[in-house]
Amino acid sequence: MADKSVVVVGGTRGLGREVAQFYADQGRDVVITGREASSAEGCAAEIGGATRGLGLDLAEPHTLAERLSDVGEVEYLVLAAIERDSNSVKDYDIAAATRLVTLKLVGYTAVVHALLPRLADEAAVLIFGGLARDRPYPGSTTVTAVNGAVTSMVRTLVVELAPRRVNALHPAIVGDSPQWKDMPDDRYQALVQRTPIGRLVTMAEVVDASRFLLENGSINGINLAVDGGWLCM
Ligand SMILES: NC(=O)c1ccc[n+]([C@@H]2O[C@H](COP(=O)([O-])OP(=O)(O)OC[C@H]3O[C@@H](n4cnc5c(N)ncnc54)[C@H](OP(=O)(O)O)[C@@H]3O)[C@@H](O)[C@H]2O)c1
Repeated sequence: MADKSVVVVGGTRGLGREVAQFYADQGRDVVITGREASSAEGCAAEIGGATRGLGLDLAEPHTLAERLSDVGEVEYLVLAAIERDSNSVKDYDIAAATRLVTLKLVGYTAVVHALLPRLADEAAVLIFGGLARDRPYPGSTTVTAVNGAVTSMVRTLVVELAPRRVNALHPAIVGDSPQWKDMPDDRYQALVQRTPIGRLVTMAEVVDASRFLLENGSINGINLAVDGGWLCM
C-alpha cells in the first residue's frame, strides 16, 4: 500500500498539517487541501517531499467530486477541516450554523463518497471531532451537535465502507496548535487545572494517536478522546 496516497482534508494548518508533515517525512505521497488552491500549493511546498495541494470548500459539497477528480488510489483519508462557529442560541446566526453543519457532516461525507472508488479494501478513514461533544460551553450548540454527529457517523461509515476502517479522534484543547498557542495565560492555567496530566495535550500526541487509528488494522469504529484525562475531572 506504500504507493497509495495519504489525503488530508484541512491539511494546510494545525493538526491536519502535522499529520500531513509526518507522512510526507516518511516519503509518502501526500495530498493536502485548503479552501484556496494557491495557498494549499504553497503549504504543500513548505511540507516538502511528494506533497501537493488542492483547493476545495467543504461547504460547497456539490463541487467536491470534481475538485478531487485527479487524486489517485488512497490508503489513508484524514478529515480534519473546520471553520469555528461560536454561535449562541440567543443570537443565533443561521447562516454560520448551516455552513458548519454542511461542511463537517455533508462535506466530509461527500469527500468519502467521491474517493470511495479509490479507497482500497485496506484503506482507513480518520475523522476529527472534538470534546465540545462532551463538554458544551455557551455558544457551542452547533459545534457540540456536529461533534456528536461525528461519533454517530463513524458507526454508519464502518458499516457502509466495510472492509475499510473508520475511526474518529476527539482532542481536548491542543495547547501548541495554532488555534490555541497564544491563548491568555489565565485561560491556559484554568484549563491545565482541569487536566489530570497537569498540561494540555500536544500536536505530536495527536499525530501519534492519528497514526494508531490509521495504521492498526484491528482498530475500527473507535471514537478516541485525546484529552489527558480531561473528561475524568
Ligand atoms: N486545535 C484544537 O485544539 C482542537 C481541539 C478539538 C478539536 N479539534 C478539531 O481538530 C480538527 C483540526 O483543528 P485545527 O485547530 O488543527 O484546525 P485549524 O488550524 O483551524 O485548520 C483548519 C483547516 O481546515 C481548512 N478549512 C477551513 N474551512 C474549510 C472549508 N470550508 N473547506 C475546506 N477546508 C477548510 C483550513 O484550510 P485553509 O485555511 O487553508 O482554507 C485548515 O487547513 C478540527 O476538526 C477541529 O474541530 C481541534
